[in-house]
Amino acid sequence: MTIARGDRGVLVERLLFIMDQKNHWAWPKLTKPGLSRAALAAHFRHEYRTYVRDFPVLLARVLGQGPPDDVRIALAENLYEEQTGKQSLGVPHPALFLEMLDGLGIDRTSIEDPSIPLEPEALTYRAMLDRVSASAPWQIGAAVLTVFVEGSVNERAELEGTRKLPPIDEVIRTHPMVLHYGCPPERMRLTRAHRAVEGGHRRDAWNMLLAHVPPQSDLASSIVDAMNEALTLWRAYRSAVARHLV
Ligand SMILES: [Fe+2]
Ligand SMILES: [Fe+2]
Repeated sequence: MTIARGDRGVLVERLLFIMDQKNHWAWPKLTKPGLSRAALAAHFRHEYRTYVRDFPVLLARVLGQGPPDDVRIALAENLYEEQTGKQSLGVPHPALFLEMLDGLGIDRTSIEDPSIPLEPEALTYRAMLDRVSASAPWQIGAAVLTVFVEGSVNERAELEGTRKLPPIDEVIRTHPMVLHYGCPPERMRLTRAHRAVEGGHRRDAWNMLLAHVPPQSDLASSIVDAMNEALTLWRAYRSAVARHLV
């Protein structure tokens, strides 16, 4: 996929500028050895309960707003895969996430137990995801979920087609959770499922917006505002979780 030119290019650039910043100072801690199991559990508990478990539900809410047909198809395919895994390994992505935690020897109760509180910043970030997914216009929910939440700091390279990924077995073998924390490679099937389908999800995310957002419109400005809000709340959320990463 090539990056759009003209007015459309300006909108894409404004959104990519936000995605370039979807990086947090504490991420490197998760790529090195030395974290306790309690710290890893805190990190994964927050990821799981803030957006991993309910990502398909959030997508479904955007679909439920009745967007145009091409968007319905893209969202339906995405949520079908996330909730069933039937376009890849046949296992829902949230379940594959928990499978990795099994491999790390982290008790599922310590992740799923609703009586273990989340950091308030996680709840604030999640509240924003709930709000944009459930309220019109659908384009804002689609942008925040499929570009911001599902996308990464690598979004620009993904769009430009310059992201070079090593073979999947090598990615898994050198994944920090395998390399430093002893997760057996066969429990890293989430990484495999994402390699199989995520390129399509990235392409669909941008196509939905480019086809249905007039680049110089109040809607375009509202999307940029919502994406910036998501970035701010996500950073606060990650900083709150970083307090556990010792
Ligand atoms: Fe996924
Ligand atoms: Fe996805």
